[in-house]
Amino acid sequence: MELSPNKLTTLERYKILTGLVFPRPIALVSTRSENGVANCAPYSWFNAICEDPPLVIVSFGARKDSKLKHSLINILRTEEFVVNLVDEDIANSMHISSEEVPETVSEFEIAGFSEAPCTVVKHPRIAEAPVSFECKLYKRVEVGHMRDIILGEVVHVHARDGLIDPTTKRVSEDDYWPVGRLYGTRYCTTRQRFNLPGELPE
Ligand SMILES: Cc1cc2nc3c(=O)[nH]c(=O)nc-3n(C[C@H](O)[C@H](O)[C@H](O)COP(=O)(O)O)c2cc1C
Repeated sequence: MELSPNKLTTLERYKILTGLVFPRPIALVSTRSENGVANCAPYSWFNAICEDPPLVIVSFGARKDSKLKHSLINILRTEEFVVNLVDEDIANSMHISSEEVPETVSEFEIAGFSEAPCTVVKHPRIAEAPVSFECKLYKRVEVGHMRDIILGEVVHVHARDGLIDPTTKRVSEDDYWPVGRLYGTRYCTTRQRFNLPGELPE
């Protein structure tokens, strides 16, 4: 089969890209709105893309009413945000937190998340997350009429005790069970891991 993206509808392109490029990691972005409400939502057009400086990338579409997503509004207003990573324990709550609710409603409450304070940024992080990256806005790229690509610089990392070896900084695989997004409402675990020949970096 051959496909020309310019002959596909936007929805068809979305289906092809998200249906083929998987699993995608999930950024559970947390911010606080102007009126003080703790906001969070999952974003799986997401990845860590660079270590010097340490950058993550998140891609925002529009809400159903064509307005900007609340997370993006809060990022643009404060130039800060938090990326919480998602493991099996919080997968269900993460999914629930994707509901489009009015700005006055906190997804923390809907999903049963607790707020924990950040060290550098003003937004709350999710206490139940295995890892949270405090981020400063590095660059915004507006794409088309419905997409905003946000690059965030990780300025502080919170990791659950025991997850990262304090000396080697290696992550303990046995204590870390992130989930990935397949497409739509489909997810995967990272339980089937395997080795190929070669050495791990120091
Ligand atoms: C697993 C998952 C991944 C998602 N990824 C994205 C994404 O990458 N970009 C996006 O714009 N919306 C994404 N969404 C939809 C948003 O989470 C949803 O629109 C949410 O209500 C936005 O909340 P906010 O307006 O509070 O930011 C995703 C939803 C789920 C369940």
